[in-house]
Amino acid sequence: MADTKKLYIKTYGCQMNVYDSERMAEAMGGAGYETTDRPDDADMILLNTCHIREKAAEKVYSELGRFKGLKAGKPDLKIGVAGCVAQAEGEEIMRRQPLVDLVVGPQAYHRLPEMEARTQAGQKALDTDFPEEDKFEKLKSRPKAKRGPTAFLTVQEGCDKFCAFCVVPYTRGAEVSRPVDRILTEARDLVERGVREITLLGQNVNAYHGAGPHGDMTLAGLIRELDKVDGLARIRFTTSHPNDMMDDLIEAHGTCEKLMPYLHLPVQSGSNKILKRMNRSHDRDSYLRLVERIRAARPDILLSGDFIVGFPEETEADFQDTMDLIEEVKYGQAFSFKYSPRPGTPAAERAMVEDGEASDRLYRLQALITKQQREIQDSMIGREVNVLFEKPGRLAGQMVGKSEYLHAVHVAECDAEIGEIAQVRIVESGANSLAGQLLRD
Ligand code: SAH
Ligand code: SF4
Ligand code: F3S
Repeated sequence: MADTKKLYIKTYGCQMNVYDSERMAEAMGGAGYETTDRPDDADMILLNTCHIREKAAEKVYSELGRFKGLKAGKPDLKIGVAGCVAQAEGEEIMRRQPLVDLVVGPQAYHRLPEMEARTQAGQKALDTDFPEEDKFEKLKSRPKAKRGPTAFLTVQEGCDKFCAFCVVPYTRGAEVSRPVDRILTEARDLVERGVREITLLGQNVNAYHGAGPHGDMTLAGLIRELDKVDGLARIRFTTSHPNDMMDDLIEAHGTCEKLMPYLHLPVQSGSNKILKRMNRSHDRDSYLRLVERIRAARPDILLSGDFIVGFPEETEADFQDTMDLIEEVKYGQAFSFKYSPRPGTPAAERAMVEDGEASDRLYRLQALITKQQREIQDSMIGREVNVLFEKPGRLAGQMVGKSEYLHAVHVAECDAEIGEIAQVRIVESGANSLAGQLLRD
């Protein structure tokens, strides 16, 4: 096609943004765009932004500034901002950076092609509404393009929890679950296109309660339905809130074969005082009891977590409570952050912990997590795992995939195909990955 235009999307933030970027690319496919990974070639540049921590917005403005030269040489180039900064800043983005043609919030992506058409007519386009309709239904992909072996699938969006530090309830809006039949249709379509592993996404994915054939269905119910999809081999979900970890979901970890033994279960802090001030609605003991119950259902499950250090009023003793909790749980993976005040959230008004102190705590926490991560990785040596192969490795003949526990596994002299699941014996543990040998009978 002579008049195919090129779209460059840069994605920041969480997996939901990754999923959204794919949907936007598909929607723009219908408007005559194909994606490029070179901004210089693009007719439209879209930044899909994240607002979770400080300086995120500033980063977006500096990134936008860098496109000035590009736009000067190519006046028809359209520049758009999507994602959570778009939702939070809205029109302000165009005021601060006039080269921006389009600002679209996460709930309005299905209107993107029509907004792009407006920019072609020389207008500016802004949409940060929270409409009632299911945007994903309207964003359905037309071309049945082949896909890689793993995919994200958003099943729930938004959050009603209002943790005192978090912008998500403001940028993504209230909690909404997609209906079961639409998710199943999308999952079957992904499988037809080569996908073998689906990660169900939601800001609060285990609070899922989508409309099913006989009333609302829980996440465990949805997983049991997905378990029946032929050709789908693996199911994962993220991110879960400890309070929504219901009995049927815990049980599913013990009974549902396709559900992988990995759970991201953020606790944020191990101090009851801080958890209360964070408005987390679980405490240290309820979290530890929950971990016990999950491990009783699936003893080999690998747990991962999120931690915030230096939350207002966190003392050294509070921090030690977090360190003790980590010692007790033993995480295979974790993401940790220094508290960052977000405008409009309740905690932003509170006195900050001294920055040097917060940095020091983050350093100590990360050292502990790294040690645990490494111990769990090392304990895999000699074990047999199933690896879903995703791509060739850097060395000739090498392939890389993921184990059930989400460890990256490198296999040398590997004849497995991309998308194949094969048994591998782990022989080595490196800084961030494992090495193994293919076991073929
Ligand atoms: N829904 C998930 C997390 C979403 S945000 C949950 O409930 O846990 C991803 C992570 O970013 C959070 O778990 C938290 O650790 C971190 N985070 C969110 N707001 C933050 C802030 N203001 N400062 C530092 N870290 C933050
Ligand atoms: Fe943010 Fe809390 Fe909601 Fe997670 S549960 S998205 S941390 S408000
Ligand atoms: Fe960031 Fe929005 Fe995700 S703030 S973490 S992109 S929900």
